[in-house]
Amino acid sequence: MKRIVESHQEYFFDKENANEYLNNAKNASKARYSNFLSSLKKLDIKGRYLEVGCGPGILTQVVAMQHPKAEIIANDISPEMIKLAQQDLADNLKTRIKYEIGDACDINSIKDFGKFDLIYSTFTLHHWDNAELAIKNLYSMLNNNGLLYIHDLKRVFWLYYVKSESGFFNSIRAAYRPDEIKAILNKTGIKNYKINSIFPFFMQSVLIRK
Ligand SMILES: C[S@@+](CC[C@H](N)C(=O)[O-])C[C@H]1O[C@@H](n2cnc3c(N)ncnc32)[C@H](O)[C@@H]1O
Repeated sequence: MKRIVESHQEYFFDKENANEYLNNAKNASKARYSNFLSSLKKLDIKGRYLEVGCGPGILTQVVAMQHPKAEIIANDISPEMIKLAQQDLADNLKTRIKYEIGDACDINSIKDFGKFDLIYSTFTLHHWDNAELAIKNLYSMLNNNGLLYIHDLKRVFWLYYVKSESGFFNSIRAAYRPDEIKAILNKTGIKNYKINSIFPFFMQSVLIRK
């Protein structure tokens, strides 16, 4: 089962697509993010956070509430997504969350955000044009002992062949298998990582420690 990437980065540059994503994410947010949030809670990382590919920023606000001392910069390549995230940002979180346009694959667009103790990204890995470059860029922005936490779908055969062209199934076909992630990480030279499978097994997380 070959990787099939049908929706490219530009898909989220469109205002209607960005709004549709916001509405879907709002309805599905509990199931979509629950494993990531509970695992992040246990890790209890202090300091500065960077959220990469934040989309309309729903998760950013939940993370900020769950970690009341964290300062978060959240970036996205799509200006439309950043506009939605800024509009939706609660007043009481404005001192701790900043939304910025930036491309994970272009270090010049993100390096001025500084260094971070935690860099996390949900459901974006399969959208990155060049995953190896993005991971290298993000790794270079970690403080010593910092964590890069990537949470995404996994390309599993029992969903790959379902005859549906919905966003979810297209994303499954575009997602990486764990052996492909390992191959990407080998090319970066990064050694200190763990890939975890997440029940119900079409999701996975990659934890990279500097
Ligand atoms: C499926 S959405 C996920 C949004 C959010 N992280 C979530 O979990 O709901 C993918 C997002 O990644 C963004 N994206 C894609 N490539 C990117 C890149 N190279 N750098 C930053 N953001 C990117 C898209 O614009 C889009 O908002």
